Amino acid sequence: MRRKIIAGNWKMHKTNSEAIQFVKMLKVKLINFKKTDIVVCPTFTSLSQVSQILDSTNIGVGAQNLHYEDKGAFTGEISAEMLLSAGCEFVIIGHSERRQYFNETDQTVNQKVHKALEKGLKPIVCIGELLEEREDNQTMNVIERQVRALFAGLSEEQASKLVLAYEPVWAIGTGKVASPEQAQEVHAFIRNLMAELYSNNLAQSVRIQYGGSMKAANAKELLSQPDIDGGLIGGACLEPDSFRDLIEVAEGF
Ligand code: 13P
Repeated sequence: MRRKIIAGNWKMHKTNSEAIQFVKMLKVKLINFKKTDIVVCPTFTSLSQVSQILDSTNIGVGAQNLHYEDKGAFTGEISAEMLLSAGCEFVIIGHSERRQYFNETDQTVNQKVHKALEKGLKPIVCIGELLEEREDNQTMNVIERQVRALFAGLSEEQASKLVLAYEPVWAIGTGKVASPEQAQEVHAFIRNLMAELYSNNLAQSVRIQYGGSMKAANAKELLSQPDIDGGLIGGACLEPDSFRDLIEVAEGF
């Protein structure tokens, strides 16, 4: 049985004081949840303080991006070691907003995955098709290209440390959630592809989150699908009660 994993991607929300206040409330509200892996991914500026507040709780901390070089003249970038020193355990890589607005490519995503694993961070790697691609019946081609690229050069042991997040771009921030059948179809496709690339064992152990307008009200149907192992949450993770309610649904599995 794969444990469900729910991660909140805060994107560019919350100042330091808002972040501190939020996680202080969150750790109390989530204290009794034991069956689900829970992660919050604040902005870089509040990672360190958030990690200290959540130290020794059931809530892990992740960053939203990293650079693939160790250090150097890369103004504005953040390295894996900086994230580790700020208390991060996870890092989101290749979110569609980074692919769309910040020129991330399949290749840079792969470089970042390699660096994160080398340094001991757990990557949450995002993939997903655009609306035009879905309408053009290209979904599986796009997903296959992204999945093959992100795993390039990884050993089975390294690959086993990843969490994947299928986020159809048309469902992100739109309120237009993928139907459980649409999501399940892609999740099963990704799992089959992992079996082809590595082994059935690996494919059965790697968790695949769904992301895109997921909230407490639609989580049960999505999480009941056999290949949906959690959620990567945007809007619904920004208020303590909506995030709590969603995790409560995950706890029911
Ligand atoms: P929403 O939940 O706001 O649609 O965002 C999903 C997402 O992009 C999480 O990474």
